[in-house]
Amino acid sequence: MKVLVATEKPFAPVAVEGIRKVVEEAGHELALLEKYTDPAQLCEAVADADALIVRSDKVTPALLDAAPKLKIVVRAGAGYDNVDLESATSHGVVVENTPGQNSNAVAELVFGMLVMAVRNMYAGTAGSELLGKTLGIHAFGQVGRNVARIAGGFGMKVSALDPYCPVEVMQAAGVEPVGDLHELYSNNKFVSLHIPATPETRGSVGYDLISLMPKGGVLINTARKEVIDEAGLAQALEARADLKYVADIRPDNADELLERFPGRVFFTPKKMGAQTAEANINAGIAAARQIADFFATGNTRFKVNK
Ligand code: 3PG
Repeated sequence: MKVLVATEKPFAPVAVEGIRKVVEEAGHELALLEKYTDPAQLCEAVADADALIVRSDKVTPALLDAAPKLKIVVRAGAGYDNVDLESATSHGVVVENTPGQNSNAVAELVFGMLVMAVRNMYAGTAGSELLGKTLGIHAFGQVGRNVARIAGGFGMKVSALDPYCPVEVMQAAGVEPVGDLHELYSNNKFVSLHIPATPETRGSVGYDLISLMPKGGVLINTARKEVIDEAGLAQALEARADLKYVADIRPDNADELLERFPGRVFFTPKKMGAQTAEANINAGIAAARQIADFFATGNTRFKVNK
């Protein structure tokens, strides 16, 4: 079988070597398409692929039409909003993700950006510390749980909201469960977003929630830009000169925000939460193993489409 790794943002070379080893030892062939600039290149590369490993690369109906032999797509990572699940199902293609494999990397970046924000973007002026401060975690999945663990080391008071997570799981992690969004945003000086981009969450964090945050609040987004109502964010930053927004995903209005709110907003140039050698190895090799297992035994444990 031919396994194509198609990554516009490549894995670290050491991860690619690990993926190659797993694929070849299972008797399959590896093909690599990195740093492509046009989706047409991906459509061409996928023509004879039986399996596909991607990151945030878009798996569209057109791509699936161009891949007549494709049986499985594994998104090496957590969020699979880049994959058209309905179209994959109608093409008879299994879609999987690799939950948890890159979550520590993303959680560490939360603190990289939070420390930068409370130290006034390293401008040299007196900032503040994290010790004893309140942190609200918006969704307590794998990344949220790693954020809570690290926050414990900083001596922060941590609470979380997640209707899909039993409160016992939060309590066991030393995290206080909160009942609703109003409570989460009004009681926490810092809020870290970990909700997936779904029809329910798109544009769900805007002026009403952000403006509830206590004085000196920082909103950290290492999730998806789509969950933010960008006009509402700008409105909240305008109304409250004490608020900051730091994100691992450039919003569509990034240039406007940077110009209007200098020193109060920060965006990484390219999504890099999961861009560590360790996360690339973990997620990439997990994806390769899942594919090898699928071809060997039909295992679809991590399937996310119907
Ligand atoms: C994820 O959903 O796993 C993260 O957002 C990482 O995405 P990336 O693989 O494109 O860096």
